[in-house]
Amino acid sequence: MREVPGLMGRPADHPELESKAPFPEPDLAVVTRSVARRLRDLGMIGGDPAGGWSRLGFTATECEAHRLFASWVEELGLKGRQDAIGNSYGQLGEGGPVLMAGSHLDTVPRGGNFDGAAGVIAAIEAAAILRGIALRHPFVVVCFACEEGARFTSPCIGSRVATGGLDWRRLQQMRDAEGISAFDAAREIGLRPDQVETWPQGSVACYLELHIEQGRILVGSERRIGVVDTIAGSTRMEISVTGRSDHSGTTPMAIRQDALVGAAEVITATEQAARRSRTAVATVGRLQVLPNVVTTIPGEAHFSVDVRDIDPMRQREVAEEILHHLGQVAIRRGLRVSAQLIHDQSAVVLPFWVREQLTGAAQTAGIPYRVMASGAGHDAGYVGLVAPAGMLFVPSREGLSHTAEEWSEVEDIALGAVLLARALQRIDTAPWMAA
Ligand code: HGY
Ligand code: MN
Ligand code: MN
Repeated sequence: MREVPGLMGRPADHPELESKAPFPEPDLAVVTRSVARRLRDLGMIGGDPAGGWSRLGFTATECEAHRLFASWVEELGLKGRQDAIGNSYGQLGEGGPVLMAGSHLDTVPRGGNFDGAAGVIAAIEAAAILRGIALRHPFVVVCFACEEGARFTSPCIGSRVATGGLDWRRLQQMRDAEGISAFDAAREIGLRPDQVETWPQGSVACYLELHIEQGRILVGSERRIGVVDTIAGSTRMEISVTGRSDHSGTTPMAIRQDALVGAAEVITATEQAARRSRTAVATVGRLQVLPNVVTTIPGEAHFSVDVRDIDPMRQREVAEEILHHLGQVAIRRGLRVSAQLIHDQSAVVLPFWVREQLTGAAQTAGIPYRVMASGAGHDAGYVGLVAPAGMLFVPSREGLSHTAEEWSEVEDIALGAVLLARALQRIDTAPWMAA
């Protein structure tokens, strides 16, 4: 029985992993030029006239990006396919279980061209490097569909369907701001959400994802590589406050039931609750005021709350504290309130032994790195529920992300791609991974 190191288990030392020179040192300049070309081609898709990119999940622009991915797969001679929910794959070799690497190509509205894209392109470049060596496992590059929660609030739809976390019924319940369900949106672009399949159990031996950090730690530490140990969880709610629309000139302050002022109190309390907690963050990113008229007291206010933490207990405590404030404000101001839980996922600790292959590859290559948590959610957080997973980060300039100004250096993405290939090769030959 193969002894596979557990979540925190340390595999016995395997000096043979250290010595193995898996493949000749790739020419980093060539990989860098290839990364730049692919980013440039991708950047032609989904540019937003208001700035940045809007390749929203389950839209024509995401489809176009997946067609570009399919052309990269074909260019490399990989076997391409797309599943019923729109995840695209390119496979090197036959059989299984497979090694897998990838990310996503959808963006938030007016987002950047690196979030997700860096990981998909790095996995493609890793496939170009690994094509030259005989791997024991097939290698699959994956481009997950609809990773961003920007449209349907609930994130990582493609990877959650693939790993059995979402079925077609839940897709019918998830709705965007126009009330369109994820199910209908997927069908609208020619996908088959009524025929979604889950990956066969044990079919993925290990999944790696390179991603831009989307934060300020790496760029401040002069390190070009981050190795992720924990992916933060998130609790997301839709909150509604209902008061009474009234004339803004004739209604005395003392008798108003102003929904927006009530919401504002809860929004301030949201920020204060997160500030009081050591590692939680909380954001109100979307607010709708009705009737949204200069001379009418707001009768309704609807807003989103996104609480994130690497500590599952604290994450729920902050969410609970927000709901407590909501109840207090309702009583004090004579408002009606409701809160709907849209999404709730705990932090995911990535297995030590996978992390050790990533740090080992960096050490062998003499690349300084740091181990760190991810405040952002990723597909790896869901794949990691069914297969051993690991993540590499590359720096984000000024930590900016989910904005048009998002930027990462192509040289860092290329370096990350070579490291990804090295780590995959180490994992491929690890004694406990005998195919
Ligand atoms: O929102 C996130 O955590 C990620 O960018 N999908
Ligand atoms: Mn992302
Ligand atoms: Mn994102």
